[in-house]
Amino acid sequence: MVDHNSPRHNQPKAGEWINTPLHEATKFVHAGVAPDPQTGAILNPVCLSTTFVQESVEQYLAKGYSYSRSGNPTVKAFEDRMAAVENGIGAAAFGTGMAATACVITAFMKEGDHCVITECSYGGTNRIARVMFGDLGMKFTFVDMTNPENVRKAIIPGKTKMLFSETPANPLLTLVDIDAISKIAKEFGLVHVCDSTFATPVICRPLDHGADITLQSTTKYYDGHNITTGGGLICAKKEHLDRVLFVRNMQGSIMSPFVAFIQLQTSKTMPIRVRKQSETAMKIARFLETHPKVAKVLYPGLESFPQKALADRIHRNGLHGGMLWFDLREGGSVAGTKLMNTIQRPWSLCENLGATESIITACAVMTHANMLKEDRERLGITDGFIRVSCGIEDAEDLISSLKASLDNL
Ligand SMILES: Cc1ncc(COP(=O)(O)O)c(C=O)c1O
Repeated sequence: MVDHNSPRHNQPKAGEWINTPLHEATKFVHAGVAPDPQTGAILNPVCLSTTFVQESVEQYLAKGYSYSRSGNPTVKAFEDRMAAVENGIGAAAFGTGMAATACVITAFMKEGDHCVITECSYGGTNRIARVMFGDLGMKFTFVDMTNPENVRKAIIPGKTKMLFSETPANPLLTLVDIDAISKIAKEFGLVHVCDSTFATPVICRPLDHGADITLQSTTKYYDGHNITTGGGLICAKKEHLDRVLFVRNMQGSIMSPFVAFIQLQTSKTMPIRVRKQSETAMKIARFLETHPKVAKVLYPGLESFPQKALADRIHRNGLHGGMLWFDLREGGSVAGTKLMNTIQRPWSLCENLGATESIITACAVMTHANMLKEDRERLGITDGFIRVSCGIEDAEDLISSLKASLDNL
């Protein structure tokens, strides 16, 4: 018989995790979950119910739920997990990372409002700002956020409502001084949203650096196994969380309970995976630096990384993540395409990143194809640009496969 009053079933609420003395890996495993009071099941059950029976008209929402588009117990458990590991007061989970992006922009901006946004971001972020929200009358200024002064200069007092950064940026890995951008946001009363998908909370927690909202494509490291898509907005302030939840309910973009259940399990191992992926990325980056056919390799852990001091300041646990990129010395896009077309297992040529499988991506024709070509080229996302997402396979196997392809060019 399960004792419903046992302290075993008590859990800190969202927000209370910030002040628990528990260490990081423990939070990743336990935040959001408690043994099921009915059965003692160690995993939260998938709560598949569209609606929730009310005690009475007067006691509407007495148990916290009304309809699964507004909120669902399994999704809430995953939201509490995200809030705990990102040091937020609460979070909202979405069906995809792009649903989270669409929600946060529409939650804080309307026609005529202005946003200063990073010029280097995931291609879908660039497209939704330029095309969809641009068509709806919102204004976006794309700036190089590696220099915070560019952000300050682009602000239009009275019009600017949001600063939208991404660090490390997809795909160039440029970093943003989150503290400096957050300081500017506070000075002008703006909302600072920081997409921290590449970093993961294991490596960087933007809210610790003053950002208001952290954005995650949980399709990446939270899932980490190429199983599900998802997104998250993790908030530092209750008024932002309330607004985001209100807009998500109107848009109907909540994560499904099935996905929340899966990501509750997969995210438990994120600290272990990210450590291994970071170590592998470092080994691969060092190997690429020595290969005669490689002109340039960028990885925030390398001494040669242009923003190394910033990486060391804002990255946690002495880790720099599983993402890197390189360019070939000769042959440009033809050689790059040949390498990506000929690379063998354990590598896979596809979109997505942050998973257990190592992935190589041709950004110019895949993830960033929807950016304007001139913007892509100006930033250096050439047709031969090769993005690498390290998985958890043995680095030796990944390096020997990469070496064989490079040697054959
Ligand atoms: C940094 C970053 N943000 C947001 C997204 C969008 O996430 P999703 O594909 O889950 O919609 C992606 C997708 O690749 C991404 O890399």
